Amino acid sequence: MRTDPRFPRLHIVEHPLIEHKISLMRDRNTGTQDFRTLLHEIALLMGYEVTRDFPTHLVEIDTPIEKMKAPFLVEKAPVILPVLRAGLGMTDGLLALLPAARVGHIGLARDENMNPIEYMVRIPEAPKSNHIVVDPMLATGHSAAYAVQLLKDRGIPESQIRFMALVAAPEGLEVFFKQHPNVEVYLAALDDRLNDHGYICPGLGDAGDRIFGTLKE
Ligand code: URA
Repeated sequence: MRTDPRFPRLHIVEHPLIEHKISLMRDRNTGTQDFRTLLHEIALLMGYEVTRDFPTHLVEIDTPIEKMKAPFLVEKAPVILPVLRAGLGMTDGLLALLPAARVGHIGLARDENMNPIEYMVRIPEAPKSNHIVVDPMLATGHSAAYAVQLLKDRGIPESQIRFMALVAAPEGLEVFFKQHPNVEVYLAALDDRLNDHGYICPGLGDAGDRIFGTLKE
């Protein structure tokens, strides 16, 4: 994992498979079906690092040979919170690793000034659990910061929240960490900048449109 001196809580998950798959996703000629599959695969690979510090405890079991104290996850049902709609594209990858996880939904749209507005929010009540908020694109940082604030408003401390994205822009990370300095953020790539329309450059375009096939022909 790589860090960045500007953002102490940022972790960039480095792996040749992830790099290869994200390059395929960036290519405008990659269609919806492949895009969706690649996003699922990257979420699964990233999940390995996002959960690296999840604690385990020892439980006595019988192997076919003898008794042993074996490590098991202390928490089997963390909360996964996709930011709709693009976050849905990363949810199944995480669920493949954490099949007992609970899933909430954070539906945010943007108004004409790019500020987030809620249209559907369902957050499982799990005050002691780890919460993983997922959205492939951390662009302006406003939706990401808003989603995490919803959890903090429900009493979840920053130490129990982590944010997982595919790609981010530095401008968005500035906004995010100003509001939530102790939330760990996991990315597959940190890109160069935002353009005037709030898109990440070089980025991969509109992730929601590419996942759900709603791009204009
Ligand atoms: N949302 C996207 O889907 N892509 C961007 O580049 C920025 C926000």
